[in-house]
Amino acid sequence: MKGVQIVGTGHYLPKEVLTNEYFEKIVDTSDEWIRTRTGMVKRHRVAPGEATSDMCVEAAKNALDMAGMKPEDIDLIMVGTVTPDMLFPATGALVQHKLGCRNIPGFDFEIGCSGFIYGLAMGYSFITSGLYKNVLMIAADALTTITDYTDRNTCVLFGDAASAVILTSSDKNKLLGFSLGADGSQDKILYMPGGGSKIPATEESVKNRLHYIKMEGQSVFKIAVERMIEALKSACDMAGIEPSKLDYIIPHQANLRIMDAVRKFAKLDEDKLVNTLAEHGNTSASTIGIAFDKFVRDGKIKRGNLIGMTVFGAGLSWGGAVVEF
Ligand code: UT7
Repeated sequence: MKGVQIVGTGHYLPKEVLTNEYFEKIVDTSDEWIRTRTGMVKRHRVAPGEATSDMCVEAAKNALDMAGMKPEDIDLIMVGTVTPDMLFPATGALVQHKLGCRNIPGFDFEIGCSGFIYGLAMGYSFITSGLYKNVLMIAADALTTITDYTDRNTCVLFGDAASAVILTSSDKNKLLGFSLGADGSQDKILYMPGGGSKIPATEESVKNRLHYIKMEGQSVFKIAVERMIEALKSACDMAGIEPSKLDYIIPHQANLRIMDAVRKFAKLDEDKLVNTLAEHGNTSASTIGIAFDKFVRDGKIKRGNLIGMTVFGAGLSWGGAVVEF
């Protein structure tokens, strides 16, 4: 069986920036509350008409550039998103065209914030099975398009972004451990009720604000800490490494208090925590990929480093991974 390695990373943040001060003007909140309860300082928002596929293409170009590859070298595109351009066709297919790839498969998968790690695991499987050699895996969301800007509990949290990795077949395997899970019994602590087959869009669904994210923050917080720690531990077990031996840990960037709890479990010093949350807020599926790419480009994450990743999101869903860069 062939192994898999990451040969390129990339990310994209839209131009418009929403500061904590912006939210002080539109809801009853404060910069101090947002910083201390979440660790966030700013987030980015797509321009009118800018869609998830547009963000995907920019992140993919950066990843291709790092890999020294061209769009025609890619054999498969996967996009993890809960905010596709349209319910169909798949954003992955749109990216195939916009990026100028051959007529390769391009599809979407939907598992909320857990998208990046689920995507890594799927890319690993497609390559180790021998089906494809070079996989472009993109995790992207435009959460501001489904955020209720009258709800202070959620609106301060979310931003838009895309992150991408190029996975390729390699003699040495560098995707060393995975752990994925889901629990659909807790679907309503983080969800968007309207717009799917259960509650299609009607005047009433719009009036009742059903096309926006609903979240019970505190319930999600508690379960997230437990599941992210378990997922990291299981992925480390599969990789045969103690969490304390990781060079870096990249938890889902949703709340600094959660990220810190995971770091403390792993017995890692503060400088081993990859933290870019303040710069982009919770961007759903793409947070781990953004943090990863920023640290790679800053020269902090180096070839050979062992990286632990762990995530939690709607589903409920969670995942852990251990990757050698
Ligand atoms: O990406 C998917 C996974 N998502 C997550 O991991 C998110 C997990 N949850 C969280 O990060 C946190 O629960 C939040 C940041 C969402 C909320 O922080 P919290 O410390 O759990 O606050 P809380 O919901 O318990 O609310 C505490 C207080 C409440 O006021 P009272 O009832 O104590 O008077 C809220 O109404 O804070 C109030 N509050 C706010 N105050 C100012 C809630 N949102 C705000 C706000 N500004 N934006």
